[in-house]
Amino acid sequence: MLDQLEAQAPDALLALIKMHAEDPREDKIDLGVGVYRTNDGATPVFRSIKAAEQRLVDTQDSKSYLGPEGDTGFVDALKPYIFGKDASMGGRLEGMQTPGGTGAVRLAVALAKAAGVKRVHLGVPSWPNHAQILQDVGVVTCTFHHAKADGTADIDALIETIEAAEPTDAVLLHGCCHNPTGVDYTDEQWEQIAEAFAAKGILPILDVAYHGLGRGLEEDVAGVRKVLAKVPEALVAYSCDKNFGLYRDRVGAFYMIAKQPSDLPAITSNANALARANWSMPPDHGGAAVRTVLRDGDLTKQWLDELDEMRARMRRVRARLAAADNEAPGLNLAALGEQNGLFAMLPLTKDQIASLREDHAIYMAGSGRINVAGLHAGNTDKFIAALADVIEG
Ligand code: LMR
Repeated sequence: MLDQLEAQAPDALLALIKMHAEDPREDKIDLGVGVYRTNDGATPVFRSIKAAEQRLVDTQDSKSYLGPEGDTGFVDALKPYIFGKDASMGGRLEGMQTPGGTGAVRLAVALAKAAGVKRVHLGVPSWPNHAQILQDVGVVTCTFHHAKADGTADIDALIETIEAAEPTDAVLLHGCCHNPTGVDYTDEQWEQIAEAFAAKGILPILDVAYHGLGRGLEEDVAGVRKVLAKVPEALVAYSCDKNFGLYRDRVGAFYMIAKQPSDLPAITSNANALARANWSMPPDHGGAAVRTVLRDGDLTKQWLDELDEMRARMRRVRARLAAADNEAPGLNLAALGEQNGLFAMLPLTKDQIASLREDHAIYMAGSGRINVAGLHAGNTDKFIAALADVIEG
């Protein structure tokens, strides 16, 4: 039976991590997988998380099972950051913990399918795993253009998609810090998106994986809140992998917003059943550490400072790249200064990307996506010179 399986290509991004690790060149630059890096190229554990973990070691008295919903204290502690001060949304909001943002996206799509959604519209390019999840869960993927060549969002493409949608369609949107383009909708465009969803009545699925890495914690979810203020129901996938630096601990949350509070028990019972069949219950440790941070004023302040520091560093890198626009003609580096988060797309050919890797030891995704956090004062000049070199060919 098992010999019937055809070999699958390894995930390109995960393969890139291995390739970079095996490259012996000392001046290699990793712009591949989306992890934050400091000015020294490190991805350290947050100080606030370390302190919270120490408290957990000292005080946690059991690792007995929770349930499919995971650590509800963690899920509740995040709510005001995502949904605002009135985080209850009139009793229409319920959440649960998931294994990473990926688990939350998967649960969102599976729940939407169980509720009757047949097709999910996805702006492209998108995080490659979005399309894989949609296919694996078994809904039809429809695509529209996310970004224009000038490095801004193609709002018309999204509005037309919503307006032409069938009642059994859903739309999957990145809440902020779009992966892979870094191109986010403006506040005015989010207003338009909210109006379009409200007029059409189809289900929004909002993926918030980089909260706080763009403009600020409030600013990054302003668009999501505009949509939630207008639509009767929605699903939100959330990741703490980046904004708490908990990548491998797999820390995510999934929120369901119902038309009315009385709908929530049936919705959450379906989500719990899906979680039970997929992973039974989420890993506890990272969620417990986040809860510990968010329930302690000092640790919360420390976390906010650490997040500010990350965001400010990425904005500095973006400003430096934008200022080098004339050194790498045709790449529109100027637009990177206005974009958000870890990622940007450079319109490089496959050969140029290969030459950057082989001749300059610079690793980026085959799509032309770079992780701007891989750049710092010590390697940005080299990167810009290498770009100029491969462009001139
Ligand atoms: C990325 O896009 O690099 C990250 O979200 C990591 C991943 O799981 O793909």
